[in-house]
Amino acid sequence: MRCLVIAHRGASGTHPENTIAAFRRAVDVGAGMIELDVQLTRDRHVVVIHDATLDRTTDGRGPVSAVTLAELRRLDAGGWFAPGFAGERVPTLAEVLAAVPVPVNVELKPARDDDGLERCALGEVEEAGAIGRVVFSSFAAAALERLRAEAPSADVAVLWEHDPVPHAILLAERVNARALHLRKDAATPAALSAARAAGLAVRVWTVNAQADFDRLVAAGADGVFTDFPERFLHNAPAGAARAGTPPRTDLD
Ligand code: G3P
Ligand code: MG
Repeated sequence: MRCLVIAHRGASGTHPENTIAAFRRAVDVGAGMIELDVQLTRDRHVVVIHDATLDRTTDGRGPVSAVTLAELRRLDAGGWFAPGFAGERVPTLAEVLAAVPVPVNVELKPARDDDGLERCALGEVEEAGAIGRVVFSSFAAAALERLRAEAPSADVAVLWEHDPVPHAILLAERVNARALHLRKDAATPAALSAARAAGLAVRVWTVNAQADFDRLVAAGADGVFTDFPERFLHNAPAGAARAGTPPRTDLD
């Protein structure tokens, strides 16, 4: 069975995560899907950034939810990773959907319960004509429930970390999800069989080591999220990183 290789925050092992550079690289190496994280700015634009604060991945400080899009656009989102990436920006969801033609997993990271993120993200995806190539996921069950109420046919996945996987399957049934996105330590053969019996695809994060990849393919995983998509694809062009890119240890 073919295992979908999903670029986690783009090709984030070799490029600054959640930037257009990381997403373009993922497409260039042949990733079948990209994963990205979305949040709302203070003026309610849907932007692509992982942490709740700007500090780690930009030259700004403080909560993402405290800045306007205009303020965010002035920040550098590449120089922290390597000098050659200085000038990369925090993109909007609309910009990413316009820049990459492949399927996209939009992970909703609401700053607080019911901040309206899922409604805004759904609006951006529909406006871009991309609803047919987007999978929405979230750790926030309430966000998935609200999304389902707004969009009966949207492709939804339950994102799951530690708790017993049968609970994830129950939630998936409640929100009519098509897949579970499981943390790799939760992706046991028993969990995969239970998900399969419930008619759910299983995609596993974050898989950077060949041994983990091989184990998960053998267990029947439908997809893996990886920071290094080129490791599990065979058409990756040379020159994965720009000069000055630091070696990066595997992250969860
Ligand atoms: O969507 C899979 C994975 O991205 C979830 O964890 O923290 O990397 O967003 P995180
Ligand atoms: Mg994510």
